[in-house]
Amino acid sequence: MLTQEYISLEEKFGAHNYLPVPVVLVKGRGVFLWDVEGNKYFDFLSAYSAVNQGHCHPKIVKALRDQAGTLTLTSRAFYNDCLGPYEKYITEFFGYDKILPMNSGAEADETALKLCRRWAYDKKRIKENEAKIIVCDGNFHGRTITVISMSTDPDSYNGFGPYTPGFIKIPYNDLEALNIALQNPNVAGFLVEPVQGESGVIVPNEGYLAKAYSLCKEKNVLFIADEIQTGLARTGRMLACDHENIRPDIVILGKALSGGTLPISAVLADNDIMLVIKPGEHGSTFGGNPLAAKVAVASLQVIKDEKLAENAEKLGKLFRSEIGKISSNMIELVRGKGLLNAIVIKPCNGKGALDICLKMKDNGLLAKPTHQHIIRLAPPLVITEKQIFEAVGIIKKSILEIEESK
Ligand SMILES: Cc1ncc(COP(=O)(O)O)c(C=O)c1O
Repeated sequence: MLTQEYISLEEKFGAHNYLPVPVVLVKGRGVFLWDVEGNKYFDFLSAYSAVNQGHCHPKIVKALRDQAGTLTLTSRAFYNDCLGPYEKYITEFFGYDKILPMNSGAEADETALKLCRRWAYDKKRIKENEAKIIVCDGNFHGRTITVISMSTDPDSYNGFGPYTPGFIKIPYNDLEALNIALQNPNVAGFLVEPVQGESGVIVPNEGYLAKAYSLCKEKNVLFIADEIQTGLARTGRMLACDHENIRPDIVILGKALSGGTLPISAVLADNDIMLVIKPGEHGSTFGGNPLAAKVAVASLQVIKDEKLAENAEKLGKLFRSEIGKISSNMIELVRGKGLLNAIVIKPCNGKGALDICLKMKDNGLLAKPTHQHIIRLAPPLVITEKQIFEAVGIIKKSILEIEESK
């Protein structure tokens, strides 16, 4: 079948909740993807940062294959021989007492919210049903009803009410607003993305996270970092919070925890917080399954062994500096951290970010606009220096071709 036939099948039989770039992919390896027509592309989305280790990393695929033929799911009704070793591995890896394993990112966010609320009632002694959690304008934490109740993006929440109460929304990167919101004695937690990915790679001021953390500590409020997109080496550190040397009370991970092979997410916290949830009060059929446990260990080991955080830090700087050298009226701004970057596009001759993405596709590089005028550029972290130069060449050529076209 050809590209259009596959697209027509999805249009006819699938819900229309996405608007993909018109390319049908059949194979991935490292930083590259191939389409059904045999064309090869640089992947500059990495499945929204789920493929930090590169497509089909052999060590992750081996762990998946080996375990898939042995035992995949027992449910948590029983113990299995993979979960305990994984729990030991990941908690030692990040330095927390405990992990609560889940599947998708949104589920892990929900888990963190439940933990925070229960901690508020059991430990902080907030009156039942009165706990508040502070969130930031422009946040993205997923698509469930409670998660969209925190959203300030009408595309996420419009038409899906009634919403879950209990959230205080404040501007991102605004310590004064946080300080004011923290005066409410019913505040139990502050949920924040260290860099807002979906919002367009919004990097807060240096020192914001560290100061926000200390303001939370002053008020006995849990600092909860959603590191689903920013974590696991993407921004040049294992966790983006490491840039400011802070240790969140709750860390939420997802995406690259499986190197893009399975939905695997996790919530990390110390005993004082994690043990407020008792048997039967939270869970998931697939969370912590043996297959996921083996894959997650392999995925973390690859990030460490291949020094992906260091690579992201170094090549991220190179990437921003090379993009900065492109002389085009369509480039308004380049920003980012590590290999999580974005170009803000100034539309020209009625052409904008989507036109550039389509042109980049034609020239051999895949990326997608986030919001109207922002192109997020986030390749797998196994990318090399030579490949960065090659990719920048494609991006430059594409922008200039669009700028010059009438
Ligand atoms: C920061 C953040 N949190 C949560 C999510 C939701 O993850 P999932 O799509 O796996 O539910 C995302 C997804 O993009 C994200 O970027």
